[in-house]
Amino acid sequence: MRIGLVGTGLLGNAIGLNLLKRGHTLTVYNRTKSKTAQLEQNGAKIARSPKEVSENSDIVFTVVKNADAVKKVAFGDDCIACGKHDGLIVCDISTINPISSREIAQEFANRGVLFLDTPVMGGPNVAITGELVMMVGGDKQTFEKCKKIFEDIANKVFYLGPNGTAHSIKLAMNLQIAMLALAISEGITLARGAKIEPEVFLQILNSTYFKTGMSENKAYKMIKGDYAPTFTLTNLKKDLDTINEAAKAFGLSLPMATKANQVYKDAEDSGFGELDYTVILDYLEEHSKSK
Ligand SMILES: NC(=O)c1ccc[n+]([C@@H]2O[C@H](COP(=O)([O-])OP(=O)(O)OC[C@H]3O[C@@H](n4cnc5c(N)ncnc54)[C@H](OP(=O)(O)O)[C@@H]3O)[C@@H](O)[C@H]2O)c1
Repeated sequence: MRIGLVGTGLLGNAIGLNLLKRGHTLTVYNRTKSKTAQLEQNGAKIARSPKEVSENSDIVFTVVKNADAVKKVAFGDDCIACGKHDGLIVCDISTINPISSREIAQEFANRGVLFLDTPVMGGPNVAITGELVMMVGGDKQTFEKCKKIFEDIANKVFYLGPNGTAHSIKLAMNLQIAMLALAISEGITLARGAKIEPEVFLQILNSTYFKTGMSENKAYKMIKGDYAPTFTLTNLKKDLDTINEAAKAFGLSLPMATKANQVYKDAEDSGFGELDYTVILDYLEEHSKSK
């Protein structure tokens, strides 16, 4: 299958590089052209529009910021649906609201295009080796057709049911990321407040049942103040908005997600948005000082 990719930001670029390394034919488009340079150097064909991507592909992945961006590249000017041909399959990797995802699936269905939601867990560092975790929602037969390609992108692939189901679980996943970063940050802040090196806190935490990938890996970058972005705070804040919107649509209100949203919003308003989301440590340390 010829593969297309629309959106070559931090995640899309890494997914594209991995697909090229595995020998796939790849056509890519990004709104800001400069972000396709690395893929071009590695053999990707650069398209001038999402339409040109779908015309040249059997399966197109979208990896863009939010639901509005997905709708724009899917159905706007020179769009993916504009380049429709028999058998075209579109898979959306972006993290978006399950309700929006169902609307997008319906609109593609109206235009005779097959659509799967395929959000992932894991950042560019594991995308580049094809070790993401992928959740899939949509038609099972379409999933079976694409499974081999999904297994090149992710080393764990979970088929969950109709469109929207994968995004619901993905939002529950990102809620874990948001909360873990807050808990680790306040743990580090408390240890430092007690004049204990944060490495000691992490060493003990990582000896217990409560250790996580974050406490074993990212936390060591956090205590060094290394916030080179792999997933921006702005994008995590966007996901918290989406989590709260989805909860509302399901007749729920999540008290902790609501509070977390406010904390990340304040951090974004303080200028931390384009750094890695783990910079929430610096924001919380600053705001933990008694006035
Ligand atoms: N990074 C991660 O670890 C990670 C992991 C799992 C899921 N995700 C999700 O994957 C998606 C992409 O994340 P990322 O980290 O790659 O973000 P990013 O680096 O901020 O890239 C965002 C991408 O979306 C495009 N975009 C934004 N608004 C657009 C619009 N209106 N029309 C067309 N394109 C638009 C950007 O194009 P420009 O370059 O022109 O701005 C860029 O290609 C997000 O939904 C994110 O939540 C990210």
